[in-house]
Formats: sequence, C-alpha cells, structure tokens
Amino acid sequence: MDTCRVLVVGLLLVILVLSAHVLGAAQDRPLRGSADERGFFIGTAVAMTPFRSESIYNETLRREFNIIVAENAFKWDSVRPSRDSFNFADTDALVDFAEANNMKIRGHTLVWHSQVPSWLTDGNFTRDEVISILREYILTFVGRYRGRVWAWDVVNEAVDDSTGALRTNSFWFQTIGPDYIELAFEYAREADPAARLYYNDYSIEDLSAKSNGVYNLVSSLKGQGVPIDGVGWQMHQINGFRTEPAHKTNARRLADLGLELSITEMDVRISLPSTSEELNQQSDAYRHAINFCLTTPNCTALLTWGFTDKHSWIPGFFAGWGDALIYDSSYQPKPAYFALREALVQKADSAPAINGAQRDRKRLFIIGQGFLEGAEFFINGEKQKKVFNSSQDPSVTLIAKKSGKKVRTGDILLVKNPDGLFSNEFVYP
Ligand code: G3I
Repeated sequence: MDTCRVLVVGLLLVILVLSAHVLGAAQDRPLRGSADERGFFIGTAVAMTPFRSESIYNETLRREFNIIVAENAFKWDSVRPSRDSFNFADTDALVDFAEANNMKIRGHTLVWHSQVPSWLTDGNFTRDEVISILREYILTFVGRYRGRVWAWDVVNEAVDDSTGALRTNSFWFQTIGPDYIELAFEYAREADPAARLYYNDYSIEDLSAKSNGVYNLVSSLKGQGVPIDGVGWQMHQINGFRTEPAHKTNARRLADLGLELSITEMDVRISLPSTSEELNQQSDAYRHAINFCLTTPNCTALLTWGFTDKHSWIPGFFAGWGDALIYDSSYQPKPAYFALREALVQKADSAPAINGAQRDRKRLFIIGQGFLEGAEFFINGEKQKKVFNSSQDPSVTLIAKKSGKKVRTGDILLVKNPDGLFSNEFVYP
C-alpha cells in the first residue's frame, strides 16, 4: 500500500471511530439531552410527597426532563382550600424548581369536575357568584405566574365519554352552564397573554364519538374567537397500544383548525405481575407515541403521568394493574425508557416516505423509501393484508397483493414502519 492509501485508510478509520463515539455518546444521553437539541419537550407529572422527600426523585427529574406538570398541586382543592385563602406553597416550589432547572411547566388544571373543594360545591352560590369566584381564581393564579407557565390545561375532561356532548355531571356545567368553558379560556388569556391555553381530555386520541365531540367543541371555540391554542391527549393506555392512522387524521384535523397538540399524561398499564415480554411490548407503545409526536408537526410535547412505578396513580385506581411508567419502583430505567431515548436520538428523516403508487391488476406497488421489514400499509386508514417488501431492508417498494383492485383516485395511502414512524399521506392519482 502506498503512503497516500495508508493515509486515506487511516483517516477513514479515525472518522469511523469518532462517529461511533459520538453516536454512542448521543445514545447514552438523558432524554432531555436530545430533546433540548431538537426543540422537543419531554416531561412528566410530579407528585409532591416524593418531590419533598426523595432526593433520587428530584435528581431524575432534573436529569431527564425539560418540562414538568404537577400531578395534583395545581388543582382547586390544593390551591384554594377555603373561600378566604389561596395556597401557593407547592405551586411556587414547582415553578421555582422548573425555572432553576431550565424546564418548562404545564399548569394542570384550572377547571375540572373533580377535586373541586366542598366549600365551593356545597356553598349554595348563585351563577353570578360562581362566575366571579372562577374569574378571581384564574386571574389570581394564572396572573401570579404570568410569563412563567408555558401552557395551562384551562379546561379538563368536559366532554362525555359516550355521547361526545358536554359532560353534565360537573359542578361548573350545573352552576354556570356550557359557557363556563369559554369564560375560563377568556380569563386565562386575560391573566397571561403569552401562555398556551389547552383543552385536555382522555380517550380522544383516535377517532370516536368522544374525540369527534372534542373536535366539535374546539372547532366551535375557535370559530367564536375564544382564545384556545391546543388540545392535550392524556393517553392513559393499556399495554398493547399502538398508534394508528386515526391518530394522524385526528392530529391533522386539529392542525387544520390552527391548534397544536401535546401528549399530556401518558402511561401504559399492565396486568400484574408483568413479564419481561410485556415490558418489551410496553416499550413499543411508548416508542410509537413519541415517534408519532416527533413526526407530527403540530405535536409539541410528550409528558408521562409520573415516571417511576413507585409513584403512579394506576395501582390505586385499577386494582391488579400497574408497572405503567418508564422507570421501575427502584428507579431503574425500563425498556420503555430506552425506547424513548432511542427515538429522541434517531433522525426524523428515518421515517418512510411514499412518492408514487402503481397498480398492476390485483397488485399495488407503493414506491418510496425507508420501508422496513414488517411495514404496514393502509388505504384510507384501512389496514391492507398481504403486504411485503420487494427489495432489501429498508426497501424502496412495497407490494400490496390484493389492494390493486380496490384503490381509487383520491384514496389516501399511508405506510407505518414497525417502529411506529408513519409516512406522508399520499393521494393516489
Ligand atoms: O390530599 C388528600 C390527602 O389529604 C388524603 O390524606 C389522601 C387520602 O387518600 O387523599 C389525598 O387526596 C388524593 C389526591 O390524589 C392527592 O394525593 C385523592 O384521594 C386521590 O383521589 C387523588 O387522586 C388523583 C386523581 O387525579 C384525582 O381524580 C391522582 O393522584 C392523580 O394522578 C389523578 O390525575 C388525573 C388528572 O388530573 C386528569 N387526568 C386523569 C388523571 C388520572 O386520574
């Protein structure tokens, strides 16, 4: 080998070792390392008891997350224990903690049917009095942290699970009527013009009577000029959860209204005792959710509802279920943690892309790039059977055996890789 070749080979080896090192370092970084870099918010709910008593709890918070939300401390029963007093001890502690650690904070929640103190519900107040108490509460509370709270869940869980209409078993609905919602948003905007104002709810991620109800609600609020900026998908899931084309459609219709979206309370509960297979399955649920959020332009943040299985609401509310979070009860990271970490490091351009489709009798050729082995293919949200890659992995062509005779001009074609990354929605010409 001549000197020149030796030099070139040497240089290539150095580049190889350095890039392996850089990639390795990136993969070992805490979640917030990669999230900060890509301008994404990865966070968790904070419970006050461990926050005040377990140093490893706060160390993990600081190290891993760049956004927090209080699990209970920002709710009425904590902030407004009596008609004559506000209690800002815990809210101050959390806002200060977030700022000291360069984190954002979400405020959860200003109006909810649950955790309303009995001095208010049993106080026999008139409608006008309740409106004035609500206004005073929002102006005082939101105003206190003006410019310091990134987003508020102004209204939480106002829509009925089965009908999609407004929930009537709510103190606010019963005393004020349906307009409590717009009043709350208006007061919040008045108190802090810069904060993002959210409507937050559970089971509204895919397409259903409830998510249609939420869509109609926020669409009508937008139409009336009510100051709303986003929708929070809580995402309390059961193991086995995967993202579906319906999630994409739902996110897109919110984006079309000019609304952003955040995953605000994710957990994935498992029937106990959990097996290692189930923990791996759970990691795919988290992987799918974060990949979805990272590649959905209006999705700004993903927060989990707690981070350690030691402190989770699940076992107390669902007997026999648990292990729903990304650290175990001894603060050891679980497969779900590593799934989030990998997804945050991975480049967004590893998502598959469709740039053409061609019919050949019963077969449909989907042409693009980045299709992984086991990729799923959908026409108008309907999963197609008998789909395989035509070339090596990642492949540039998928063949859907029976889809050729079904596809029509204007149909929406979508590919989803096994890691949960979706392609663009390609309109069949
Ligand atoms: O504060 C009292 C305390 O004084 C008392 O000694 C203790 C005895 O049980 O109860 C304490 O209150 C508990 C409170 O959490 C604070 O720990 C309530 O009983 C308990 O019901 C309450 O649960 C919270 C629940 O909201 C209330 O509905 C959960 O921790 C909290 O994780 C959960 O969070 C909700 C979100 O806000 C909205 N989305 C769903 C999510 C899960 O339900």
